[in-house]
Amino acid sequence: MAKKTAFLKQFWQEKKMVGAMSPSSKYLAYKMLRNIDFKKAKVIIELGPGTGVFTKKILEFMQPDAKLLVFELNDTFYEHLKEEIIDDRLILIHDSAEFIQKYLNEAGFIHVDYIVSSLPLAVFPNKLKTNIINVSYETLKNQGKYIQFQYSLNSKRLLEDRFDAVHLAFTPLNFPPAFVYTCIKEKA
Ligand SMILES: C[S@@+](CC[C@H](N)C(=O)[O-])C[C@H]1O[C@@H](n2cnc3c(N)ncnc32)[C@H](O)[C@@H]1O
Repeated sequence: MAKKTAFLKQFWQEKKMVGAMSPSSKYLAYKMLRNIDFKKAKVIIELGPGTGVFTKKILEFMQPDAKLLVFELNDTFYEHLKEEIIDDRLILIHDSAEFIQKYLNEAGFIHVDYIVSSLPLAVFPNKLKTNIINVSYETLKNQGKYIQFQYSLNSKRLLEDRFDAVHLAFTPLNFPPAFVYTCIKEKA
């Protein structure tokens, strides 16, 4: 099945989990990843990879000794990624983003350099999104970045309240057009 059709099917079956009708564009991928210093990044987390638009790009730019931990809750997307991406640097996790800390520790790490998130925060219950943002903040190193796209400004306040600095960008070249938040942790 073509990726766009497969994505749409998951959207209809799991609207609140998937939160989008098609995979992100290469323009959005560029805006999401352009603030990552791939030369220095040793541990990166991706939340909600879907069909892997950002995952493949991150692996393309990542150093050979870096690790990417990817959290995907949806069964179909998880199975698809497991079959399609074979890379020793990838740790694919079939569980919710809430449990970052547990899997990070199991992989032998305490902190991460970057978190790239496509989670549909706007449709998440308040407790779930607050937990995920809090654990993300705790997990980041000093000067680490949490990079999140959304189709609205709905989560701006939540991100600004938790992070020490938040920069906002926008791309019309995506369906739907998207806002990209780059959130910085300035304290260790
Ligand atoms: C808007 S889609 C983005 C997919 C892809 N990154 C893209 O940009 O095309 C959101 C993704 O988050 C996943 N997801 C939703 N809730 C999650 C959770 N609690 N933990 C991990 N992944 C989750 C969905 O299954 C879906 O793959």
